Amino acid sequence: MTDTKKKTILSGMRPTGKLHLGHWTGALENWVSLQDAYNNFHLVADYHALTTSLDTSDLYQNTIDMVIDWLAGGIDPSKSPVFRQSQIKEHTELHLIFSMLVTTSRLERNPSIKEQVRDLEIENITYGHLGYPVLQAADILLYRGDLVPVGEDQLSHVEITREIARRFNATWGEVFPEPEPKLTKFARLPGLDGKDKKMSKSMNNTILLADAPETVEQKLRKAPTDALKVRRNDPGRPDVCLVFTYHEKFNPEETGEIRAGCESGALGCVDCKKRCAARINEFLAPHIERRKEYEARPSLVEDILRDGESRGRAVAGETMEAVRTSMKLG
Ligand code: TRP
Repeated sequence: MTDTKKKTILSGMRPTGKLHLGHWTGALENWVSLQDAYNNFHLVADYHALTTSLDTSDLYQNTIDMVIDWLAGGIDPSKSPVFRQSQIKEHTELHLIFSMLVTTSRLERNPSIKEQVRDLEIENITYGHLGYPVLQAADILLYRGDLVPVGEDQLSHVEITREIARRFNATWGEVFPEPEPKLTKFARLPGLDGKDKKMSKSMNNTILLADAPETVEQKLRKAPTDALKVRRNDPGRPDVCLVFTYHEKFNPEETGEIRAGCESGALGCVDCKKRCAARINEFLAPHIERRKEYEARPSLVEDILRDGESRGRAVAGETMEAVRTSMKLG
């Protein structure tokens, strides 16, 4: 139930299907650990998915696959409503009002739009895609979110949300908080292809939360390490090695020993990777078990979404009342 003394967390993800370790370390881990201290709301950004693909045929299955990872990862839907943006009409309403509070040039300057449309010219970006952060601002502020636990790539969107909240409040009266982003320690987990690119589905460099142990071993076997450590006994440089980053996250107790072994040349990359895979698999084993329980009961996941949607709708409706009153609309 909503506790009015607690602050509110709103966070969401686009429904890209099964999640990977980067989603866990970048956001989901924070969502789970903060769900008792805050009122959490978690949104499936299915309208946001339309900004990059109009093909909706996999949207539903991708939503279910992602929500199962949230639940298996520890989101308790009785505490934290989980819902689809498209099922709560207030998102589109607030998005329209907010779209009057931000200039197109501000949106064109948004660094993440530049990255997302790498292959496109600005003339080919749709109006909806350019307005992506405005819809995100509506997502956050409809629930009057105080805190937004997200990965590093989302910081610029939270900044635009803060600007929109300030603009609204200054124009029509105090309705919204100015939400703060909250990064995890590993807000940017590198992908399997090297230390400088983040793990992401589009780069095909992920370890999925649902990957079987053999798959994890296989994927790690192919991962690059320090290019100067050619033979087993060559001394290595853990700080440039991707696998060491994974040890730091998933095997913190042994990092001292791994660092020493790598630097002295006593520990070869093959063994180091095996140890890393074993720890990641230990971390994933309970997740995979819980996933199976939800996969066996698809109607349970649907019920969880419907329940989250009716609870989300109630809060969103209240916020829209406050918005209309302050704007003297009706
Ligand atoms: N933009 C986020 C992403 O690409 C998804 C998102 C939509 C979101 N609405 C949000 C994240 C609100 C945090 C809060 O992953």
